[in-house]
Amino acid sequence: MRKIEIFDTTLRDGEQSAGVTLTSMEKIEIARQLERLGVDIIEAGFPAASQGDFESVKQIAEMVKGSTVTALARSAQSDIDAAWQALKNTASPRIHVFLATSPIHRQYKLKMTEDEVVEAAVASIKYAKQFFPVVQWSAEDACRTELPFLARIIEEAIQAGAEIINIPDTVGYITPREYAEVFTYLQNHVPSIGRVKLSAHCHDDLGLATANSMAAILAGVTQIEGTINGIGERAGNTALEEVVLGLYTRKDFYQAESRLVLSEIKRTSELVSKLTGMVIPPNKAVVGQNAFAHESGIHQDGVLKEKTTYEIIEPETVGLSSNSMVIGKHSGRHAFRTKIKELGFTVSDEEMNQLFKVFKNLADSKKEMTDDDIVALVLEEKVTK
Ligand code: KIV
Ligand code: ZN
Repeated sequence: MRKIEIFDTTLRDGEQSAGVTLTSMEKIEIARQLERLGVDIIEAGFPAASQGDFESVKQIAEMVKGSTVTALARSAQSDIDAAWQALKNTASPRIHVFLATSPIHRQYKLKMTEDEVVEAAVASIKYAKQFFPVVQWSAEDACRTELPFLARIIEEAIQAGAEIINIPDTVGYITPREYAEVFTYLQNHVPSIGRVKLSAHCHDDLGLATANSMAAILAGVTQIEGTINGIGERAGNTALEEVVLGLYTRKDFYQAESRLVLSEIKRTSELVSKLTGMVIPPNKAVVGQNAFAHESGIHQDGVLKEKTTYEIIEPETVGLSSNSMVIGKHSGRHAFRTKIKELGFTVSDEEMNQLFKVFKNLADSKKEMTDDDIVALVLEEKVTK
């Protein structure tokens, strides 16, 4: 099995979600939980961005022992200096330096030529190498960059000392097949590519972040970047829980695995949601409230007979105690009878027929029947009889 390293950027790209600000204490609480979850790398923040970010990166770097802690820096020496001051006390300091490479960014944002961009990237990596044993370099907006130029700058970045090369789909533009082709192209056109680790970093503007990350794994990438619950800039980043559950559930296909403690997923997801205020959509894959809930009679009957009829992930795997049967108008007799038993009632077949009829009438006008509704219904029927 190939090992896939998980690079969590909840505290950096995740905090870039509109309307989200975390205090230092909250960041520390999330970092501790990410360590428990077993993520390989925690991107703790962007130290040059603010004094608060600097302090929280420093505290996390000094506290976390089970994950590598990294921080983001632009190509400026002052950013790299700030990152070093924040990270120097961690066991294996790693910096994440980036520079945009696409023609759009070169022309409008950086106002730099191709040669100037290469020069700035090389200078920043060489400067960072004076302090950091491990340098990750990202080509911002890589997926809208001309492939020959991307290959050229990556070769130069490796020659300058970068050990990890990250290919961000900064604006969530690429498709899975194209993303895999970018990695294949780089593997064939960057002479020194075999010396470095390749990393994928996707955004979800077109809802493809997870699919693109999985395509990157199939194309040979060994580091996946993302956030818990997929929070992040605009439509967010790759949801890490989806990637690791994908690897776990379809090992047969991916032939790759992460070292995450899957039973910590639900807890981590809830903590991030609570502290960021970003509500998890009920139908969100893996961590949504409905991800293990069955509503229709056909599904409930199937699951009560054999879970695997409609469950490809055991709820316990991600830290839930069980699946749930939502009792509503789509529920069948099997789930209704099971629920009545769970609530402590014994009813004859005849009573059951009558109860089920009344239940169906009531459920038609309600979204969901709570346990209290069902208890009331059974008691009322019994009393009336
Ligand atoms: O999306 C992006 O390009 C980034 C970089 C800073 C790595 O977050
Ligand atoms: Zn990003």
